Amino acid sequence: MERGEFIKVCAFSCLGGSALISMLEGCGGSNYFAQFSLTNNQIILRKSEFQKVEKSNSKAEPARNVQRKYVLLNAESLKFPISVYMLSEDKYSALWLQCTHKGCEVKPNDQYLVCPCHGSEFTRAGDVQLGPAALPLKTFVTKTDHENIYIQL
Ligand code: FES
Repeated sequence: MERGEFIKVCAFSCLGGSALISMLEGCGGSNYFAQFSLTNNQIILRKSEFQKVEKSNSKAEPARNVQRKYVLLNAESLKFPISVYMLSEDKYSALWLQCTHKGCEVKPNDQYLVCPCHGSEFTRAGDVQLGPAALPLKTFVTKTDHENIYIQL
């Protein structure tokens, strides 16, 4: 291979790799770490944390409100983050993101959760949909009122 051809191949490979990484990041959903309060082993999370304003690319279209499918909660006292999924208008799941197989941190996306270590997958309710994990994710009891979600740790 000629030197010039080699440089072209390397340049296109790098561009392709960058594009692939961008595409994968785009497919992964958006991890939003929500604000919350934690007292007496109870998390209080405002439902408004699930709302976001999505800006339009053109000036003709106005910005619009969209619902996040899930938000993440992280606190120093928690060894792993908690993912809170909106299952329906007033039903939420709160999942501890420690894989039940060998303890890696599970990664959420809009549709399900996946463990990067050995590929286990979990539903938004925490049930196993693909092994090797055999047990569901730890879940926390949630209650709601018109304004907040209450998660009992
Ligand atoms: S630690 Fe998650 S699949 Fe093995």
